[in-house]
Amino acid sequence: MDDRILSPAPDQDDLQTELSLRPKMLREYIGQQKVKANLEISLEAARKRHEPLDHVLLFGPPGLGKTTLANIIANEMNASLRSTSGPALEKPGDLVGIVTNLEAGEVLFIDEIHRMPAQVEEILYSAMEDFHVDVVIGQGPAARTMKFELPRFTLVGATTRAGLITAPLRARFGIVHRLDFYDVDSLTVIVRRSSEILGIPTEREAASEIARRSRGTPRIANRLLRRVRDFAEVRHEGKIDVHIAREALGMLEVDEYGLDEIDRKLLTTIIERFGGGPVGVNALASSIGEDRGTIEDLYEPYLIQIGFMQRTPRGRVASRTAYEHLGYPLSAARHQRDLF
Ligand code: ADE
Repeated sequence: MDDRILSPAPDQDDLQTELSLRPKMLREYIGQQKVKANLEISLEAARKRHEPLDHVLLFGPPGLGKTTLANIIANEMNASLRSTSGPALEKPGDLVGIVTNLEAGEVLFIDEIHRMPAQVEEILYSAMEDFHVDVVIGQGPAARTMKFELPRFTLVGATTRAGLITAPLRARFGIVHRLDFYDVDSLTVIVRRSSEILGIPTEREAASEIARRSRGTPRIANRLLRRVRDFAEVRHEGKIDVHIAREALGMLEVDEYGLDEIDRKLLTTIIERFGGGPVGVNALASSIGEDRGTIEDLYEPYLIQIGFMQRTPRGRVASRTAYEHLGYPLSAARHQRDLF
């Protein structure tokens, strides 16, 4: 599989198209019904009170629309958006520079907020709670603290790892939403919407085929759609029907569950080298030569969601359906009596 399809960040070629496909307002946003309904109320209430929205924390696997929602929140509040990320904020001064330049009502988006250094996070506490920052100026006995008042703003934080957010930071968000993988119906609507925007004639059945193989993730659905379009334009007349979609997805080595080479390698490693598990994530990561965080953020959540993998206190386990899907006999599983 082309590894750009799963990669967390879109590459430059695709970035422009990706941006053009993102919904700008909440009513255009498909799926995540509960989050949408709750946000609609929060936004409406804030607008009625002529106040900025409370701070929002969004968490969930990559590609589900956290950045898109941050943009939508700003648009819905008729405010501009400033974006940064946890790793980009290396020292307190980096954050102070940003928040002291905010205008009233602006939305500050911090992606990967769990990766902010501790001293930066501390600055954020007072900025979020009381809209001020204390800056230490000078050193040693001459050091003084200066207090800067900030305009009221809305912080939107996003993270793939809810567990890595510290309790004091989490407590300062008034609105917390978890994004879940999308169902196939919502993804089908997203693929149809995107093909309309891109001007690619796509049959309904083809859209749902792409949706089924997109791991519940709109970003993957939109990328698969573009790859299938390439195939349809080069090998056919540009129109995407279900046969063309299946052929193209087969060439991309995306299987019926949307699993790619690394997912399969992960599962076959658990099955072949660790008797089906349980195996610790570190052992698994070094066996397949992937970074532990990538496995935890990008691969595992979907495999767990579709029931191919289980997380137990003793480690990861491949499930019966994973054995069946990959064509292994269940008798090969060390843990089969516990699990099946
Ligand atoms: N494109 C990507 N994500 C989307 C969503 N949730 N709704 C509509 N279009 C999208």
